[in-house]
Amino acid sequence: EADLESRLPLKGKKILITAGPTYEAIDPVRFIGNHSSGKMGFDIAKSAANLGASVILVSGPTVFKAEHSLIKVINVVSGQEMYDACHQYFDEVDVAIAAAAVADYKPKHVATQKIKKAPDNFVIELEKTKDILASLGIIKKKQFLIGFALETENEIENAKGKIQKKNLDLIVLNSLQDQGAGFGKPTNKVTFIDKNFNIEPMELKSKEAVADDILNKVIAHFHE
Ligand code: CTP
Ligand code: CA
Repeated sequence: EADLESRLPLKGKKILITAGPTYEAIDPVRFIGNHSSGKMGFDIAKSAANLGASVILVSGPTVFKAEHSLIKVINVVSGQEMYDACHQYFDEVDVAIAAAAVADYKPKHVATQKIKKAPDNFVIELEKTKDILASLGIIKKKQFLIGFALETENEIENAKGKIQKKNLDLIVLNSLQDQGAGFGKPTNKVTFIDKNFNIEPMELKSKEAVADDILNKVIAHFHE
């Protein structure tokens, strides 16, 4: 009925969300990672669930826990594990939002034993990880696909390039330039760019409020 529709506008929709960093093993005790806290992805998951959506949250290592009955968390460590989990669920979702900071490179060889300290200089050879979002862009059918972009220069042009390269419907451009925005901070300054290159700069606001703005874009898509 109309009342339920307005309170739970995403009821019946399934959303896949990636969150957090990935850890790429060097040996059994060391890894290559990054400073992503996972907060943005967890906030998006919570907003989506509060709007009635069923959420599959594929998360790299973070301190956050999802407490909502509509959120199913799949914990992963590496980019490959995140890739596998996303591909397991992608067919059944209506929306996918990639908020994870996936490592772009991983060690080419993972040592089976702890690497001992010996030479003064030590080189780790790296190889590219799979681009999860781009791989979903290739196989997407009805799915509304949202990515993030973290840029420090030529922000708009680079973000537009990512929309095309990854076949996205919407990108959330993160401005690190702004004080108070980004890794480990409670706030974000984002600009939305859609697939038609409409550009919408948003105010600096809490990550919870950014999450709500993103879900408003999802709701608007279903009303198109
Ligand atoms: N992404 C992904 N898998 C990767 C790398 C990135 O799914 N291996 C996703 C991120 O979750 C984000 C988007 O792609 O939604 C853009 O990530 P970003 O790091 O900004 O772009 P890259 O394509 O990795 O390019 P670069 O780091 O060189 O700017
Ligand atoms: Ca990257």
